[in-house]
Amino acid sequence: MISTRLQDAINEQINKEFFSAYLYLSMGQYFESKFLRGIAHWFYVQYKEELKHAEKFISFLNEKGGRVILNGIPAPKVEWNGALDAFNEAYNHEKFITSSIEDIMKIAVEENDFSTQNLLNWFLDEQVEEEAQTLEIVKKLELVGEHGQALYMLDRELAQRQG
Ligand SMILES: [Fe+2]
Repeated sequence: MISTRLQDAINEQINKEFFSAYLYLSMGQYFESKFLRGIAHWFYVQYKEELKHAEKFISFLNEKGGRVILNGIPAPKVEWNGALDAFNEAYNHEKFITSSIEDIMKIAVEENDFSTQNLLNWFLDEQVEEEAQTLEIVKKLELVGEHGQALYMLDRELAQRQG
C-alpha cells in the first residue's frame, strides 16, 4: 500500500505530466502555424513522452493499491515570441517538473517508502535528460540567433528526432 500523502502527491504529479503533454502539444501547434514542421515534430514526440510519464505514474499507483484521481488540466499558452522563447519556456518547465519530483522524493524518503523512491529515481534520471535536451537547443538558438537560415537549419535538425 501507499500512504495518502504520497498518493495525493503522485496524483498531483500525474496532472502535471498531462499538463506538460498539453503544453508541448500547444507549442507544436504554434510551430505548425509557422510552417516549421520539424520543430513541431520535436514537440509532438515530447508530447507523447509526457503521456508515457503520466501513464507510468498511473500504473505505479494502481500496483501499490492507491487510487488515481484525475483532475482538470489547465489550458496551455498558445503563443510565443519565436523559437527561443518557446524553448526557454520548455527548459524552465522541465526545471519546475524536476523540483516537483524532488518534493515527492522528500516525502518518500521521510516515509521510508523505498519502491516509490525507486520509481522517482527513474524520473529524476529522465529529468536530467529532459533538461539537457531543451537547454542544448536554447544555447544553440542563443548562439546563432533566430534569423531565417538558423531556424531553417534547426527545423531540419529537429525533424530527425525519433523518441
Ligand atoms: Fe515528464
